[in-house]
Amino acid sequence: MTKPSRIQPSDRTARFTESVIREMSRIAAREGSVNLAQGFPDFAAPAAMKASASVAIEADINQYAVTWGAPRLREAVAKRTSDYNSIPTSADAHVTVTCGATEAMIAVMMATLNPGDEVIIFEPFYENYGPDCTLSGATPRFVRLHGPEWGFDRAEVAAAFGPRTKAILINTPHNPTGKVFDRDELAFLADLCIRFDVLAITDEIYEYILFDGTKHLSIASFPGMLDRTVTISGLSKTWSATGWRIGWCISPEHLTGAIRKVHDFLTVGAPAPLQEAAADALAFDVSYFDKLRETYQKRRDVLVSALIDTGFQIALPKGAYYIMAGIQKHAKPGQTDTEFAMALAADGGVATVPGSSFFANPKDGNSIIRFCFAKRFETLEAAAAILRARLR
Ligand SMILES: Cc1ncc(COP(=O)(O)O)c(C=O)c1O
Repeated sequence: MTKPSRIQPSDRTARFTESVIREMSRIAAREGSVNLAQGFPDFAAPAAMKASASVAIEADINQYAVTWGAPRLREAVAKRTSDYNSIPTSADAHVTVTCGATEAMIAVMMATLNPGDEVIIFEPFYENYGPDCTLSGATPRFVRLHGPEWGFDRAEVAAAFGPRTKAILINTPHNPTGKVFDRDELAFLADLCIRFDVLAITDEIYEYILFDGTKHLSIASFPGMLDRTVTISGLSKTWSATGWRIGWCISPEHLTGAIRKVHDFLTVGAPAPLQEAAADALAFDVSYFDKLRETYQKRRDVLVSALIDTGFQIALPKGAYYIMAGIQKHAKPGQTDTEFAMALAADGGVATVPGSSFFANPKDGNSIIRFCFAKRFETLEAAAAILRARLR
């Protein structure tokens, strides 16, 4: 069949590829491998939150919620953000509820960036950020986090700021490295944002998943940053509900209207009954968050010991639920990260994500793969047994 000449995908879609992470999940299903690729839990969401959702559906909360978020959820987000993140937040002035942090990010970028604006992105990065820049017309400017500890070089960061810099994208705790930005690092970035009049867009979706006593800090709470930061988070990770598609952003009042407009025309709103359940979940008491942290630390430790035993090079993650692992000891000469990851996933192996998908230049991730440990202990033990059998 001949294709009509003008009926083609748009030019902008040619500037990014399909998600490698989601593709690895499909490969895991095909090969019957243990899926430590995509970042979603394989265990249940909290029973109380599920019960709230059932009640909301039975109560016929089935129609559009307020576009920028059901009032109860916005109030719950405002309270949690004020208390936990030390960001004074008003439900009406600052909170927009979106379809996940993913939609929050693209809505914020489309609402704040113009073509030609530069956005500083730390690399390795969560793979959505590049396409988000493309879709919003902005130009990404990558600055390295240096392994194995994933610190940044202050001179390199400062050199990336210039007259065209409109925003810096911060993700803490960080996917894929497990880095948690500390007070000194954030103060340094805040100072640059203020000096260069730059917006901080900060993805804090893993803000409650922290290890070894590490504390989460939000750059919006730093002096001078409140009016130049948009803070993004959501239900997916902390409440183990990636499929519910509930997220939010906290923006300075002068940006909230623009973000809500973009959000309205992208999706109208997030699922109404699930917003009601999310409002209840955000009010869980402190024991829920303590238990989450403790259990995730145990999961991390199961995977870490298997990776160390089998000769992967790793740095202990301080937060989020991923480990970047160097494959130098295992990869055959000339074998790329993608080829290694495919071979490891094949025939009932372990699915991971090739490191190259986290770098602008794929070569830079050529000797790394990413493991996700948001999995049941049985899943992690099964993966550990396969790694020990295949690689030791
Ligand atoms: C850094 C980061 N931000 C956002 C998301 C997606 O969040 P959501 O499910 O709320 O869209 C992920 C999921 O893996 C992530 O790792």
